[in-house]
Amino acid sequence: MDKLTMMITARKLFRDTVDLPTIPAIVSKVVSMLDDPQANPDEIADLMLSDVVLTAKVLKVVNSPLYRTTNSINSVKRALIFLGFKCVREMILTSYFVDGFKDREQPFNMKAFWTHSFSVGAISRFIARKVKYPDMEKAYLVGIVHDIGKVFLGHYCKDEYGRMLQSIENTSNTTYDAEYEFFGTTHCEVGLCLAQRWNFPSVYSDVISYHHSSKLATEDPFLTAIITLADFYCSSHVTAESVAQASIPGDSEENAWDILTEHAPVDIAPSMEHFLTELDEAYEEVSQEVAVIFNTMAV
Ligand SMILES: [Fe+2]
Ligand SMILES: [Fe+2]
Repeated sequence: MDKLTMMITARKLFRDTVDLPTIPAIVSKVVSMLDDPQANPDEIADLMLSDVVLTAKVLKVVNSPLYRTTNSINSVKRALIFLGFKCVREMILTSYFVDGFKDREQPFNMKAFWTHSFSVGAISRFIARKVKYPDMEKAYLVGIVHDIGKVFLGHYCKDEYGRMLQSIENTSNTTYDAEYEFFGTTHCEVGLCLAQRWNFPSVYSDVISYHHSSKLATEDPFLTAIITLADFYCSSHVTAESVAQASIPGDSEENAWDILTEHAPVDIAPSMEHFLTELDEAYEEVSQEVAVIFNTMAV
């Protein structure tokens, strides 16, 4: 597969779409203010408060199990101070993205899709803690959006995507390979176009683009490795009904495992298989949390 040709094909598909979901002007103003670490938190909080939906979303997420706060946070300014500008910025983008595609028609089960996405987020955060990756919230949020290209392909190429899914039903073929066969590109390249349009940070774009070819990641290969393994675990061990299928570890997963063992503390499991089995311990807790967070994000 030639990444450049796949990217050109994705851009062509992307160029022809006219009704992409967008975020309200006031929210993009808040997002760009949050980009500036020197910005005044009072000014940002004032602007956020002028949008009731935005305020509700931020307070709901900051008080969700994701952040495990001991006391409830009931002001936007405290949320900004508690989480930091960058985290609030990324949380807002993710939350509006989830909402933007929530009611769009798809040839697959959207509940299963988001369950997979939120599970990958939660498992990524668990792995991040285990291997001492410095930003667990980032691992969580990137995990949620890693497959965003699928909602684009599913919605804008609905019939073809439906046929493609049918063609691999009850086979061991992956959606990634089938997408390439049907569209000449995959959810990774299309997801990259979407991430750029939505101004997600470049590290998000990199993970979205390379979570099935982790060797090519440049921005933060450690984070891409975490998401790659969380995705593999969730696709092969858990969400049988999701848009992703089980498969045996390929080059991307092997490379991700190498990166993890390079960075991880000495007590990491001796093999990938062992490591993946250990994730089972976390999964029960994760799946309960996912149900709560699913309702929290999609206000
Ligand atoms: Fe994927
Ligand atoms: Fe996935």
